[in-house]
Amino acid sequence: MVAKIICLILMKILILIVLCEGFSANNLTLKQVLILSRHNIKYPWSNVLHKYSSKPWPPQAGASEVLTPKGAQLEGYMGEYFSEWFKKEHFLPEGCPDEDTVYVYANAASRTKATARAFVDSAFKSCNVSVLYHKNLTDWDPLFRFVVYNSTEAYKDKVLQEINRKLRNNPKLLAVYSELNKILEIEDSQVCKQDGICDLTQSNDTVSYEVGKFVVIEGPFRKAYLVVNAFVMNYYNGMPIQDIAWGQVTTLEKWNLITEVTRLNQVIRFTTVADREAPLVKYLIKTFKEYDEMPKLMLLVGHDINLNCVANALGFKSIDLPNQFEKYPIGGKIVFQRWTDSKSDYLKVEYVYPSWSQLRNGSKYSLESPPQTVVMRLNWCNTDEHGFCPWNEFVDKL
Ligand SMILES: *[C@@H]1O[C@H](CO)[C@@H](O)[C@H](O)[C@H]1NC(C)=O
Ligand SMILES: *[C@@H]1O[C@H](CO)[C@@H](O)[C@H](O)[C@H]1NC(C)=O
Ligand SMILES: *[C@@H]1O[C@H](CO)[C@@H](O)[C@H](O)[C@H]1NC(C)=O
Ligand SMILES: *[C@@H]1O[C@H](CO)[C@@H](O)[C@H](O)[C@H]1NC(C)=O
Ligand SMILES: *[C@@H]1O[C@H](CO)[C@@H](O)[C@H](O)[C@H]1NC(C)=O
Ligand SMILES: *[C@@H]1O[C@H](CO)[C@@H](O)[C@H](O)[C@H]1NC(C)=O
Repeated sequence: MVAKIICLILMKILILIVLCEGFSANNLTLKQVLILSRHNIKYPWSNVLHKYSSKPWPPQAGASEVLTPKGAQLEGYMGEYFSEWFKKEHFLPEGCPDEDTVYVYANAASRTKATARAFVDSAFKSCNVSVLYHKNLTDWDPLFRFVVYNSTEAYKDKVLQEINRKLRNNPKLLAVYSELNKILEIEDSQVCKQDGICDLTQSNDTVSYEVGKFVVIEGPFRKAYLVVNAFVMNYYNGMPIQDIAWGQVTTLEKWNLITEVTRLNQVIRFTTVADREAPLVKYLIKTFKEYDEMPKLMLLVGHDINLNCVANALGFKSIDLPNQFEKYPIGGKIVFQRWTDSKSDYLKVEYVYPSWSQLRNGSKYSLESPPQTVVMRLNWCNTDEHGFCPWNEFVDKL
């Protein structure tokens, strides 16, 4: 009996020593990669903008919400960059990959499909890698939908209270609204003359919450979001600076001020309802649990809200992405990597995204001048200084 106890104690000490020493995550080989991507630069949703300012809006060369030629080009550069990285890591066999090796799935919206196409056409030149998507839809595939799933009144009350608290008298939003009043000259606009909204700081938002639908906020918040989003897309697209916001947003300080509404849009509308019930979150959990049977490379192309939802639901420590004003930047990717030292496997997750000036500039990325790369850490996985956490721990705790 005593011997048994001593033996148990010794075993515990041994386990402790092993745990304290941690793992030596070096000489690792890249085994599998799953990329969750946001689409690249799109034309803004411009259908209602003329109501918010009577000044002439710059003409738009393509339909609202569609990937722009520059967006396709920059996504191609991303594809090339990833293929360089794959080569460096000896990740994929030479030549064109087969369907069991590379799997690409996009949301059914035009900009997400086109983004996936641009990525694979550059990453795998002349290979005609298939981009799969839900063929019967033209917009939101249920997999990428980020709607309210929890049907209890208690949850609804909680969400509405929190959204209203974040919206009301928010000094950051009021600062955006004051600036936009001036930029738009809203007193001369159609919304002032017809709807009596002549000052964005003085009107209220209404929040609608319906199970199975997106949370919708109508009022100054949405108006400000649409206007700023249009300015940002025009900036990325390379429009001359004097044509964006009628030449009134020319400094980084001003961009930082007005883009607060796009960051808060993520925090207020989406993080508030972060939900492990979201189909994409369930799909990722299932995928990682069965990862041995999954393709070496998986690319999923969706939207900022998908990256937001996954980052929150899986419990990543929150990060501020350097050199960007967007919280989930255009063309950005959460890259789940499975590495192995042939004894054990490790997870590493990085956020790979174009900086504010890389998007404007539109130059190629390479291993020497890469896109921005930030390590993401899970709150609940024992992650080393380089961002590796034991694969088994990750999968067991998912
Ligand atoms: C690293 O791994 C490779 C392949 O598994 C092996 O050939 C090489 O000897 C290892 N290098 C070191 C320094 O352990
Ligand atoms: C690419 O693949 C699609 C579907 O598999 C096929 O319809 C198309 O003809 C192919 N294009 C080329 C250039 O091979
Ligand atoms: C698309 O619609 C067809 C005909 O209604 C149906 O047979 C098919 O299962 C649908 N496909 C998907 C992926 O839902
Ligand atoms: C729904 O929300 C309520 C209240 O916050 C919570 O107690 C419950 O666990 C949630 N249900 C699901 C399925 O997440
Ligand atoms: C906005 O809401 C506040 C507080 O509920 C109210 O006092 C104010 O009259 C409302 N303003 C407008 C323009 O409806
Ligand atoms: C901008 O583009 C030029 C030429 O294409 C390149 O040399 C420069 O490094 C780029 N700057 C940034 C910040 O990407």
